[in-house]
Amino acid sequence: MSAPLPIAVLVSGTGTNLQALLDGVHGREAQIVAVAASTPRAQALARAAAAGVPHAVFARSQHRDRVARDEAMADWLAARGARLVVLAGYMELLSEPFLDRFGGAVINVHPSLLPAFPGVGAIEQALAYGVKVFGVTVHFVDAGVDTGPVILQRALELPEAREADEVRSALRPLEHGLLAEAVRLFARGALSRAADNPRRVLVDCAPARSGGG
Ligand code: GRF
Repeated sequence: MSAPLPIAVLVSGTGTNLQALLDGVHGREAQIVAVAASTPRAQALARAAAAGVPHAVFARSQHRDRVARDEAMADWLAARGARLVVLAGYMELLSEPFLDRFGGAVINVHPSLLPAFPGVGAIEQALAYGVKVFGVTVHFVDAGVDTGPVILQRALELPEAREADEVRSALRPLEHGLLAEAVRLFARGALSRAADNPRRVLVDCAPARSGGG
């Protein structure tokens, strides 16, 4: 197997997606070399600490503006050798210079079937709309809000759902599985773009070669 891909994970909250990556891909297909939080209150920081992963806080309030914050954060992530940045419940928008610096290698997990219900409160938006099918999307990040090319999606029928917490709990395992899978695919070089439509992400499902000729 080839060397693990060095990745960074950006967090703002409880960090269950970070935990799924620590449990499912860390030290295997990928090595989490840095965890950056938007707030010192992110419980995800304790998960990084418990796993012995370098972690730091880059709060908007500590910097001149968002671009300066992103530059400081990108410097730190690059110094740690990150080649993929994973947004796992990261609740801030990233500036274009940050995205350019990582050359499109920034992915996000979102709790809806995009392009439906982008932005904050996706599950609440979906419930208010009255949908019967919910879902999860992992996508590349571009300068828009949840507008980048879709990597993986999974749907879940919950025709009777009424409470956001109920939907959130049901979607969590899907998020964790899909995000880990997307990181594995990226690490193995299995993601590319369709020549006739660069928004369409092609997934090479061939198993990774085990080496040895
Ligand atoms: C997830 O539902 C993610 O999709 C959303 O924020 C939540 C983060 O959860 N953007 P956690 O911090 O990974 O537990």
